[in-house]
Amino acid sequence: FSIHAFQDDLINWYLTEKRDLPWRKDQDPYKVWVSEIMLQQTRVDTVIPYFTSFIEKFPTIEALADANEEEVLKAWEGLGYYSRVRNLQSAVKEVKESYGGVVPNSPQEISKLKGVGPYTKGAILSIAYNIPEPAVDGNVMRVLSRILSIWEDIAKPKTRKTFEDATYELISKDDPSSFNQALMELGALICTPTSPSCLLCPVREHCTAFEEGVQAELPIKSKKKKPK
Ligand code: ADE
Repeated sequence: FSIHAFQDDLINWYLTEKRDLPWRKDQDPYKVWVSEIMLQQTRVDTVIPYFTSFIEKFPTIEALADANEEEVLKAWEGLGYYSRVRNLQSAVKEVKESYGGVVPNSPQEISKLKGVGPYTKGAILSIAYNIPEPAVDGNVMRVLSRILSIWEDIAKPKTRKTFEDATYELISKDDPSSFNQALMELGALICTPTSPSCLLCPVREHCTAFEEGVQAELPIKSKKKKPK
C-alpha cells in the first residue's frame, strides 16, 4: 500500500469530480461550521436550500451571534434536531465574545464550543484551516473499513478511535481539506452502503476489500438493541 499514490489518486479524483455544493465556494470557517452541523443528521439535497438561505440571513459569526433566537429557529424550521441550532448560536456567541469573532484553529479550543464534537472539530480544522485532523463520520468509517479492511464494529463508540488513528496516518499533509472531503465524496458517490461502484472507484487499486472481493461485507455494523 503506497500512501502517496493513494492520496494522489483520491485527491485528483475529488478535484475533478466533486459536486458543486454551496458550502464549497470558499473556506470560511463559519460557513464550513454551519454546513457540517446541518449535514450531521440531514441529507445533502435537503441541506442545500437551507444552507443558502441561512447564510443569506446570517452571513457572519457576528450576525448569528446578534440574531433573535426566534428568527434563528425559524430559519432552521423543517431541518429538525433543534438543539443543533441552539448549540450553534450559543457557540458563535462564545466565539464572538472570547475569540474576537474568529473560529479558533486549535483542537483544544474549538472542542470547548457547544455542539462541536470530534467530527465537527476535524471537519472545520481540516476543511477551513487545512490542518491534518481526521473528520470521521459513518460514511468515512464505511469507506476506510473497505480500503483498509477494518473488521471492527462501527456501531461501537470505541471503534471511532481506530478510524481516527488510521486517518492520522493516511491524511495528506499537503491538502488535508481535499483529502477529508474526498473521503466524504467517495462515500456519497461511489463507496455507497449497498453495492458500491468499485469499477468506477478512483482508489480501487488501493482497496483491500476490493482485492479480496469482500466490499459488500464491510463495514461490520451490529444492530442497535431496541429499547424495551
Ligand atoms: N457530509 C458531511 N460533510 C459533508 C461535506 N462537507 N460535503 C458533502 N457531504 C458531507
